[in-house]
Amino acid sequence: MTTLRVLGSAAGGGFPQWNCNCPNCDGVRRGAVSAVPRTQSSIALTENGLDWLLVNASPDILAQIRATPALQPARERRDTGIAAVLLMDAQIDHVTGLLMLREHQRRLPLYATEPVLADLSDALPLARVLSHYCGLDRHRLPLDGEPLHIAPLQRATITAVPLDSKAPPYSPNRHAPRRGDNIGLRIVDTATGRRAFYAPGLGRITPDLMEELRGSDIVLVDGTFWVDDEMLRLGLSNRTAAQMGHLALSGAGGMIELLDALPASRKILIHINNTNPILDERSPQRRHLDARGIEVAWDGMEIAL
Ligand code: MLT
Ligand code: MN
Ligand code: ZN
Repeated sequence: MTTLRVLGSAAGGGFPQWNCNCPNCDGVRRGAVSAVPRTQSSIALTENGLDWLLVNASPDILAQIRATPALQPARERRDTGIAAVLLMDAQIDHVTGLLMLREHQRRLPLYATEPVLADLSDALPLARVLSHYCGLDRHRLPLDGEPLHIAPLQRATITAVPLDSKAPPYSPNRHAPRRGDNIGLRIVDTATGRRAFYAPGLGRITPDLMEELRGSDIVLVDGTFWVDDEMLRLGLSNRTAAQMGHLALSGAGGMIELLDALPASRKILIHINNTNPILDERSPQRRHLDARGIEVAWDGMEIAL
């Protein structure tokens, strides 16, 4: 069986965010809202429970490993269950955890698209920095729709699906998008034929993507913001969700409307920003999701494919 474990279900900044006193962050610190803290965006996939493909390397990776004993199978004096890392974009919340893995005993296998590898060689040169530690064994993820066998997974295939979202603010391509700046993953368990689609950053739904989602048994998608102007309303930023590469949940053409139209047996929101009212389990927005069978990912959630 292929198991997908959510290591971090929050967007960049985590929940609560260190410098934030929005109603959610302040409320969870004081115990005044019914919500659980969440670390920054990452999942891991395994088939045997011992060897894992880490998908995104969160700045919270060390805390995530501590919270997940299965990631430390302790077979040798120095060991890890993390056999390889795949990155879905070059955002800070998805890549900076690589620095924390620098004590790895061999070159760390890393899978990412060409634009992401370029950002990590240049604008945020983690590859060069890490060459002085464990080093990275870099593999370019193709965007031709080919299903890939990525060790340690044997029965699950991974297909990179290019998405409309945004390169990171530091990238020279923030305003000059390249195909492969952001990807979603189609994960297929070839023994059962069951299919999951994972996309923590999803800015726009194209007809192709709609087909992809319709064909998925499990969708695990961008739940960053409730409304497009969430950060503006709270006075926290002057950028809309769309400008950050995220499709908001509510309203016409929003993620909830899209999920309602899908046959998937599980619809799960992930990469939740700390400002999002769905984090409060007693909020009307959360009840709205509950009534539609839409789940909100939490750190430690396990999904069997
Ligand atoms: C995003 O996906 O927009 C990020 O969470 C931004 C960040 O890491 O700061
Ligand atoms: Mn992010
Ligand atoms: Zn906050």
